[in-house]
Amino acid sequence: MRIGFIGAGNIGGTLARHLAKLGHQVSIANSRGPESLTALAAEIGATPVSIVDAAQAGEIVIISIPTKAVADLPRELFANVPSGVVVVDTGNYHPELRDGRIDAIDQGRLDSQWVARQIGRPVIKAFNNILAKSLLEKGVPRGTTGRIALIGLRRFVGRQGNSASPCRRSWLRPCRRWRSGQLLAAAARNAGLLSGS
Ligand SMILES: NC(=O)c1ccc[n+]([C@@H]2O[C@H](COP(=O)([O-])OP(=O)(O)OC[C@H]3O[C@@H](n4cnc5c(N)ncnc54)[C@H](OP(=O)(O)O)[C@@H]3O)[C@@H](O)[C@H]2O)c1
Repeated sequence: MRIGFIGAGNIGGTLARHLAKLGHQVSIANSRGPESLTALAAEIGATPVSIVDAAQAGEIVIISIPTKAVADLPRELFANVPSGVVVVDTGNYHPELRDGRIDAIDQGRLDSQWVARQIGRPVIKAFNNILAKSLLEKGVPRGTTGRIALIGLRRFVGRQGNSASPCRRSWLRPCRRWRSGQLLAAAARNAGLLSGS
């Protein structure tokens, strides 16, 4: 699959590494431009691109930036991105540590709902519940003692339903169709990050 990353830091860079290794066509972007990603891209087998090109590059676009930075993304970034392209948000809102106060979230909107509103597209929240170090280092074959699982993703592996599950009902559930989550879960499972089917 073609997968574009907006943000190639701890989580985005690690996911990009795994997915490129699986043979997906991975494009990575950050705030400083593709030149700053040349070395990482060469190392992991990805293509460094601009933010706009990352949004256009994929069948899946993964946004993996600090929550507050979502407001800095170019306006209309997804305006011409086909509606079938799945957008994933790995973000977690950290008001004290990093993001400052975002009133709408503080008043009860879930952070990925806020992200969805900022970019004008529904998002799947995924990969937000595992540390980058674990994602990088703890992929082990099925059956290995002590293997961990990404519970949020496991919940929609194997589900046949195709109705959307609104973010407001659970921050662990996708905001788009299960099929999209299954694609991601399959990739994660292949990477040795998930158990079960
Ligand atoms: N680290 C973890 O273990 C972990 C786990 C689960 C979820 N998360 C969440 O995932 C998100 C990313 O975390 P992270 O730890 O990967 O962060 P990180 O290591 O600081 O990387 C952030 C990435 O976002 C890019 N970025 C920042 N502002 C941008 C903008 N306006 N436009 C485009 N790219 C921008 C940065 O590029 P530049 O360097 O060029 O600015 C960098 O590539 C956060 O919401 C975090 O809470 C993190």
